Amino acid sequence: MKKIAVFTSGGDAPGMNACIRAAVRTGIYKGLEVYGIYRGYEGMIEGDIKRLYSHSVSNIVQRGGTMLKSARSEEFRTPEGRKKAYENLKELGIEGLVAIGGDGTFTGAKLFFEEYGIPTVGCPGTIDNDIYGTDYTIGFDTAVNTALDAIDKIRDTAAAHDRIFFIEVMGRDAGFIAVESGIGGGAEFVMVPETKTDLKQVVKSLKNLRKSKTSSIIVVAEGDDLGNADEIMKQVKSQIKDPNKEFKVTTLGHIQRGGNPTARDRVLASRCGMAAVEGLLDGKTNCMAGVMNQQVVYTSFGDCIGKPKPLIQDHLKLIDILSI
Ligand code: F6P
Repeated sequence: MKKIAVFTSGGDAPGMNACIRAAVRTGIYKGLEVYGIYRGYEGMIEGDIKRLYSHSVSNIVQRGGTMLKSARSEEFRTPEGRKKAYENLKELGIEGLVAIGGDGTFTGAKLFFEEYGIPTVGCPGTIDNDIYGTDYTIGFDTAVNTALDAIDKIRDTAAAHDRIFFIEVMGRDAGFIAVESGIGGGAEFVMVPETKTDLKQVVKSLKNLRKSKTSSIIVVAEGDDLGNADEIMKQVKSQIKDPNKEFKVTTLGHIQRGGNPTARDRVLASRCGMAAVEGLLDGKTNCMAGVMNQQVVYTSFGDCIGKPKPLIQDHLKLIDILSI
């Protein structure tokens, strides 16, 4: 293998830049020519591909976003789109790919490998932490800390005015951000897509809060089965029927996707980026480099996409017990 290319795809995540840097520099260290594909599969289809050097990835380890930009490509879902992408890679002589992204990225990579056989190793880049085959995904730790910072601030004003706050965090299909920011932020309740939310129980608990507890924080993952934070707040409010209780909603939104990556995310990203290139050179393909129990592990894309990553049950128990 002489030439490889790296790209980021799907929702960006803090630490993607550190991962790009690690893949580029490991490739160069190992004597490879390294290319960057811009805007994920879109750029692969359009041939938006440039040679990267060691200096190309200087001064990015600390930055959020992705220097290669990211996109969700509809065209890559079509056989014609994938054919164009293959032809562009073939023309440049690219023999291996490092794909940084989440399950959508790996679904595309798996199909592309099955059709055209270009070896691909992935790195788990998503704030959602919903990828099987790694304890944590790149960007998750930063997103949790961003959410936590916001929760701490909201708690100040919630306490000052004795209000009940519903704080919506990201997580269309996964509640990892909600659970960890909820534990760290001392939330009274956390609502996640993985479990059925018991509204009656929430209403009952809010009605019976001990006298000294006049404000409450409820963290809602955007994909909760009962709806978003605003919808849930309205349902709770209509059932509590207490004119003395004030309800507020804050949606944190894309603020959770940006910002300088934490140390944890930079280290994880650097390890995965290096492992992806080493994996390619070792003959690995159609798999993701992740970190489990402190060790680098390679997991097939099939398992990364197909196997569920359940929430840690002890975490849910913690929230229940500590919120009394
Ligand atoms: O990065 C994952 C994620 O943050 C989800 O939790 C969220 O629903 C989604 O991306 C939103 O992404 P976008 O605004 O880019 O479509």
